[in-house]
Amino acid sequence: GAAEKGEFEHFMLKEMFEQPQAIRNTIRGRLDFEMGTAVLSGLDFSERDAAQINRVLVVGCGTSMHAGMVGEYAIEEMAGVNAEVEQAAEFRYRNPIITPNDLVIAISQSGETADTLAAVREARQKGALVAGICNVVGSTIARETGRGVYLHAGPEIGVASTKAFTCQVSVMLMMALKIARTRRLAGHAGTQFARWIQRMPELVEQVLKQNDVIKAVARKYAKCDHAFFIGRGYLFPVALEGALKLKEISYVHAEGYHAAELKHGPIALLEENTPVIALLNNIPGKDKTMGNAEECKARNAPVIAVVSEGDEAVAEGFDDVIVVPDCPPAICPIPTVVALQLLAYHIAAARGCEIDQPRNLAKSVTVE
Ligand code: G6P
Repeated sequence: GAAEKGEFEHFMLKEMFEQPQAIRNTIRGRLDFEMGTAVLSGLDFSERDAAQINRVLVVGCGTSMHAGMVGEYAIEEMAGVNAEVEQAAEFRYRNPIITPNDLVIAISQSGETADTLAAVREARQKGALVAGICNVVGSTIARETGRGVYLHAGPEIGVASTKAFTCQVSVMLMMALKIARTRRLAGHAGTQFARWIQRMPELVEQVLKQNDVIKAVARKYAKCDHAFFIGRGYLFPVALEGALKLKEISYVHAEGYHAAELKHGPIALLEENTPVIALLNNIPGKDKTMGNAEECKARNAPVIAVVSEGDEAVAEGFDDVIVVPDCPPAICPIPTVVALQLLAYHIAAARGCEIDQPRNLAKSVTVE
């Protein structure tokens, strides 16, 4: 009801603004600064068990799968462990190859998504170590995995997932840190990374403060019929998630693309009414993505540049700019996705869309 939304017009807006607190709740008591690691007691496996994992498979659907992709990158980069993400629906029917040293992580806000649950059952049947990352306590996936990490994000009502995503990414980063510390990641480097995790709520606050700036950009492009989001590395899943948010609530046809793939097809669709949101944060690959964004400009597409604070010069020559705090590559999905959530929200609001209850969508999909 209206009362629960408080001062906010929609649950989605309320939940976006709850993210600093939600992330604080997710990470509370789970960082060990002295050992430079994460303490995830619900995972119920020792350092010795963690050291034996030789592959991580992450399964989920929709936004949860995008959070898994960020985790995939972090686990490979920090822990040097082979990690893959797969759509739960594909995993369950593909007869996946599983060994006892595989860790299968199922990510699900609701803990009830049919395909993700079926993937959990398949992974267990094949003898993998299975863990859940769920928000809803006591949900089916949480119960059937038997081990895992709860988000503690509080109830998410808006159909378009926001705070669950940033909290899922927070958990994935802590898991990557825990596994990495059983391998080659040094204690001091672990401590440094833990401090960055601790700072994430503050980074999100800085983006939320720019709500009005982002709203102004959104209004400018609210009449578009198509939009592209491009990024590389840790920002590739963020591009996918930014496009998904826009589709879900505004009905604008949006596609998230790897910046390098754009020229293999979608660039043919660009014209002056098709904005390209280019994720140009200060992380490896930035210069390449800049080149791709310039190619878009050359096809008359307006470019909205998302750049790191202190690196604003990158936006020169582009049409609009959104500045997010500068932070290490693995952390940057968090502030960046919040900017894209706000952008999608304000485009949908300007179009008069039913933001909390978009047509044809359900909060949790319990059928195939
Ligand atoms: C539905 C929701 C999405 C969500 C997906 C997975 O499609 O509308 O927001 O990302 O299901 O849900 P889960 O509860 O498994 O995270």
